[in-house]
Amino acid sequence: MITNINNTVYNFRKITFCGQKEKAAGTRTSCNAPYRSPLGVYADTFVRQNAQRENAQQTDKTPKNTGKKQAATAHPFRKISYNKAKNMLSYEKIAAVQEFLRQNKDFMNASNPADKNPVIKDMFEIEGKKYDARFSGGGGTKNTFQIEQGGKKYTLALPTYVDNPQIAAEKWLDVLEFEPKNTKLLRDKGLKTNDIFDIVPVKVNGAEFPAVLMKPYSEHSFKVGDRKNYSFANLLNFEEVDILNDRMFLDLFKDIPKEIAKLTALGIEPHYDCVNLCREKKTGSKDCTGAFHLYLNDLDKNFAKKKLTEKEAEQCIKNYTYLAISALPETVDRNLRQWCDYFVFIEANEGIRKKIETQAMEEYQKIKGR
Ligand SMILES: Nc1ncnc2c1ncn2[C@@H]1O[C@H](COP(=O)(O)OP(=O)(O)OP(=O)(O)O)[C@@H](O)[C@H]1O
Ligand SMILES: [Mg+2]
Repeated sequence: MITNINNTVYNFRKITFCGQKEKAAGTRTSCNAPYRSPLGVYADTFVRQNAQRENAQQTDKTPKNTGKKQAATAHPFRKISYNKAKNMLSYEKIAAVQEFLRQNKDFMNASNPADKNPVIKDMFEIEGKKYDARFSGGGGTKNTFQIEQGGKKYTLALPTYVDNPQIAAEKWLDVLEFEPKNTKLLRDKGLKTNDIFDIVPVKVNGAEFPAVLMKPYSEHSFKVGDRKNYSFANLLNFEEVDILNDRMFLDLFKDIPKEIAKLTALGIEPHYDCVNLCREKKTGSKDCTGAFHLYLNDLDKNFAKKKLTEKEAEQCIKNYTYLAISALPETVDRNLRQWCDYFVFIEANEGIRKKIETQAMEEYQKIKGR
C-alpha cells in the first residue's frame, strides 16, 4: 500500500493543472514542474537540526505583547518550515482532506465573500483548539477558508478536491516551497503582497496537514482587488467610474510605474495570475483619491528571479503595464464594469499604455544607475 507521497510524486515531472478560467471552459493544460528531490530523504540528524532551528526561530518570532503596535505580519500560530511540512504530507492525509472538502462542498460558495458563507463547524483543529470556518474562494490549487482567533480573522488554504491526490500533492508542494519565500521577498522589497504567508499545521478530518496561513484580503490596510474572485472587485465606486478618464486614470496609477520598474530590476517577469491591483484606503485631497498599487499574489514556481537582457526588461515592462491596465476593469463590480464605456477601450488605449511604459522605463533606468 502506498503510505507516503515520497513514493508517488517525487518523479512526477509533468503535472496537469486546471485554473478557474480553464475549468469554466472545460479545458485542461499541462506544464513542466521543476525536478523535485524525493520527499523524506533527509537523515534524522538533518530533520532534528531543522526542528531545532525552527523552534529557535519560533521563540524569537512569537508575537509579544509589548504594548507597541504589532507588526502587520504577526500572528499567534506556530509556523513550520517547508522541509517539516514536506515530511508531514502523505497520500492518506491529502485524501482525508479532500474527502472532507468533498463532503462540505455545499458550504463552499465561490460567489460570496467569506463573511456571507455558511459556517463549517469545527473544521480545523490547531494545537488542540477547534475552529469554525467559512469558505473564502477556490482556484486550481487552493481552497481558502476564514477562521477567527482572538478577535482577528485569518485565511487558511488547503488543496483542491478535484485533482487526484498525487496531483494535488505535487501542486501543494509547489505552494509550500515557493509561495512563502516569494511573498516575503516582495514584501521586503516594499511591494504590496499578503502581510502573512506561513505554513501552519492544522488537523482536518483527523489528518495533521500543512495548511497555509494568510491574512484575509479584507484585513489589510489597503483594499485588495483579486481579478480571479469577483467578491473582491470593489476598487472603484459608481461616482469614480462615472467620471473616469485618462487624466484620472494616470493619477490613480501614479505609483505603478515605479513598482513595475522595481520588479523588472529584480528580474521578475509577470504572470497573469500574479498581477492584481490594490488601493490605499486613506484618501487625499484631490478629486480622485486613494492611489492604486500592484498587488502580487499566487506566487508559486512560475514566479522566479532571472537575469533579464535589456530587450527582455523592455518586454517585461510592457507586459506588466498591460496586465496592470487590464486588471482595472476586473477589480470593479461587474454591473459597473459593463456600464462603463471607458473600460471597453482601456486595453486599446495607447495613450495611457505608452505613458506608463515610458515612466516605468525611466524609473528602471534610474534603478540601474543610467
Ligand atoms: N488572503 C486571502 N483572503 C481571501 N481570499 C483569498 C486569499 N487568498 C486567496 N483567496 C481566494 O482563494 C482562491 C484561491 O486563491 P489563489 O487564486 O491564490 O489560488 P490558486 O488555486 O493557486 O489559483 P490558480 O489556480 O489560479 O493558480 C481565490 O478565489 C482567491 O480569491
Ligand atoms: Mg496558483
